[in-house]
Amino acid sequence: VEPLAAVRWAPGFDAVRIIDQRRLPSEFVERDLSTVDEVCDAIATLAVRGAPAIGVAGALGLAAALAAENGAPLRACAERYAARIRAARPTAVNLPRAIDRVMAAVRAAPDADIARVARSVATEILEEDRAMCRRIGEAGAGLIPDGARVLTHCNAGALATAGIGTALAPVYVAAEGGRHIEVFADETRPLMQGARLTAWELARAGIPVTVIPDSAAASLLGSGAIDLVLVGADRIATNGDTANKIGTYGVAIAAKRHGVPFYVVAPTSTFDPATPSGERIPIEERGREELPCVPDGARVFNPAFDVTPAELITAFVSDTGVHYPPYRF
Ligand code: MRU
Repeated sequence: VEPLAAVRWAPGFDAVRIIDQRRLPSEFVERDLSTVDEVCDAIATLAVRGAPAIGVAGALGLAAALAAENGAPLRACAERYAARIRAARPTAVNLPRAIDRVMAAVRAAPDADIARVARSVATEILEEDRAMCRRIGEAGAGLIPDGARVLTHCNAGALATAGIGTALAPVYVAAEGGRHIEVFADETRPLMQGARLTAWELARAGIPVTVIPDSAAASLLGSGAIDLVLVGADRIATNGDTANKIGTYGVAIAAKRHGVPFYVVAPTSTFDPATPSGERIPIEERGREELPCVPDGARVFNPAFDVTPAELITAFVSDTGVHYPPYRF
């Protein structure tokens, strides 16, 4: 099957083309985003999602929006657009870092070059993300023996990046090498990224996948049915504390309790040199409409992420290799 391109340039570089992940798995629809409103809305509503993918979409979106501007003073536009896209979601550090990188080049460029420079840095970010995914896959494949049963949470696959994914990249590379690997995917309440997205992309790639309710992960880990856990990350503090999709922390606790290795798999762009520890990571809270079945009289608490303390993480797998504790990133 053809590789997935969750985020890329539309022909002519005047828009960012995404797979609309709100519609999966029932419909495969691509959408082109060329205005700041479209880019911010796609990120906030999870049409494009996953830390690396929103970084890339933000950068390409900013460049596309600047290219579409004719006549307006570009330097001021760029500052305004950047501030809005940067704030579309708070937890994944890939987004502000990608935007800041485009803006550093824009600020250093002469007026006439702003749009061109933005496009060129955005393209660099896109290509680097693809390359980092591949290197992560190669670095992590050695952790997955033939016959391994892997548990994952949320979607940290191709749909979450511009390339072959992060947590799923080692699975893809090991499978390419002929190993038989079985993946168990937490359905990942409340938005079901595990069931809708991870199961869809693995099945499409011919990799055996079993969806479980989130509430089955602890007992599955306790039963000896899982050899290792691979999850992605939205932001990694310098001490190794890691924000990822809500529910990851519980999986890490259960894995530790049962002696199952728990790996966090992420590109360099997800390690945040400006955040010293987990309590400083901003956690997105989302609306009550995402939780079905709540009666009017009840309040809702719906955090999109949690923080797994470094001590529960066996190792980090990145494009720079596999890193064991003590962590100091
Ligand atoms: O809310 P989402 O779907 O954007 O959350 C995604 C995750 O938590 C992923 O695990 C993380 O971004 C890593 S994706 C390679």
